[in-house]
Amino acid sequence: MENIIKDIDIISAEEAQACDYKTTEDENTGKAKKLYIESYGCQMNFSDSEIVASIMKDNGFDTTSDFHEADVIFLNTCSIREKAELTVRKRLSQFNNIKKNKPELTIGVLGCMAERLKEKLLEEEKLVDVVVGPDAYRDLPNLVSEAEDGNKGVNTFLSREETYADISPVRLNSNGVSAFISIMRGCDNMCSFCVVPFTRGRERSRDPHSIVREAQELFDKGFKEVTLLGQNVDSYKWSPEENNKARLNKKEDEVSAVINFAHLLEMVAQVSPTLRVRFSTSHPKDITDEVLYTMKKYDNICKYIHLPVQSGNSRVLEMMNRTYDRAWYLERVSKIREILGEECGISSDMITGFCTETEEEHQDTLTLMDIVKYDFSYMFYYSERPGTLAAKKYEDDIPLEVKKRRLNDIIQKQSILSEERNKLDVGKIQEILIEGVSKRSEDQLRGRNSANKMVIVEKGNLKKGDYALVKITDCTPATLFGEVIS
Ligand code: SAH
Ligand code: SF4
Ligand code: F3S
Repeated sequence: MENIIKDIDIISAEEAQACDYKTTEDENTGKAKKLYIESYGCQMNFSDSEIVASIMKDNGFDTTSDFHEADVIFLNTCSIREKAELTVRKRLSQFNNIKKNKPELTIGVLGCMAERLKEKLLEEEKLVDVVVGPDAYRDLPNLVSEAEDGNKGVNTFLSREETYADISPVRLNSNGVSAFISIMRGCDNMCSFCVVPFTRGRERSRDPHSIVREAQELFDKGFKEVTLLGQNVDSYKWSPEENNKARLNKKEDEVSAVINFAHLLEMVAQVSPTLRVRFSTSHPKDITDEVLYTMKKYDNICKYIHLPVQSGNSRVLEMMNRTYDRAWYLERVSKIREILGEECGISSDMITGFCTETEEEHQDTLTLMDIVKYDFSYMFYYSERPGTLAAKKYEDDIPLEVKKRRLNDIIQKQSILSEERNKLDVGKIQEILIEGVSKRSEDQLRGRNSANKMVIVEKGNLKKGDYALVKITDCTPATLFGEVIS
């Protein structure tokens, strides 16, 4: 036990709640102006920044990694927890000084925080010129040019149809090996803790042919892996009627869904046997056996499922409005094991200290973790979000210290489970896709196995984008080490 703990990079409760961001990279194609984007939040948001960069590129902007040389700065923001919004507020105050010396600079707040706060953001953050929600990015060039003339602007219109299907994203922060493809937008679930349905609007699926075309184009450019993104990919459904549901004013049961997520997965997997396919996020209430069988059928669909449980206790799950209980969740996990075997990676999101959660109910989360044996988890303490069902209905009554202590409990549990799971891989032969140089040494490369685990190997003759067969020789809770076989 002592040994294990010492070896592990256990993250603190504070770190777990912290918000990382990604920035644009330098691109010089001779455009007149420079755009800097800082993106917070989930993969969907990072993927949206690639759409924003593409729209702005068509309107005279190259991207830059240095905000000092930017004509326009966008913060693509997240509202998921209070901390995420505070981080952006702090960042905006840092940009205030830059704007003082460079009044012609345009500053925009995009994404979920823009959608949540709308005009209020212009009142509260005086330096902000434009506020644009996730469905209004086509209006950005217009709003930016208005701002250049001194007119501040807000567009937080939420659409029932916008999927940006025709926009070819500029790949930001890409290693040239793997890329994200958004397959749907919005969320129709109403988890009581969650702000996303309010910031991202109604769920809509993107035309499957545009998705397959994007995957094919990426493959033709040398990419080896795509990740299909949506808040709830298992509720993907598309038919010409479904797509035009809002316009035709049809009800749910009047439209025939032609293509579901299992079909879409199969279509993308068929682009090439050497293009790996991943997806995220799967909602436990919706993941079907058909999806699991499709995963089994194709070697290039990675055997990894992000299946957020949130809590291991049925009463808490009901209050969270997750629409499944502990038994349902465990049945889905058994089915994954039955169809895809022990080697399939499973990860989760978890929230501690949700309204009224008792110590025993918290223990249920820990015992569920022991049963499932997650490879990895994203763990948070509950942060009340204004306007959500939970904020309206329940008191946020668990003291912060208790929330944090419970979070530390699950973080510790997870690191033990991660090491246990990784140890099972030692001695096995696995295929990995090389993503780049290892952080530790120039002479080592890092790649991922099908189950989404990072594997470190000696460089040899390998390079980024290669597949390699490796024998796993050692592990820590976070990483596997391997010897290249071929
Ligand atoms: N669509 C995904 C989740 C997207 S949000 C799903 O349903 O699983 C990512 C994660 O943030 C959630 O899974 C949840 O664990 C966490 N989260 C969301 N709202 C939160 C809140 N109010 N406080 C703390 N964590 C929250
Ligand atoms: Fe939020 Fe629930 Fe939708 Fe996930 S499924 S985005 S947690 S409302
Ligand atoms: Fe955050 Fe919005 Fe994603 S709230 S997690 S950026 S959908």
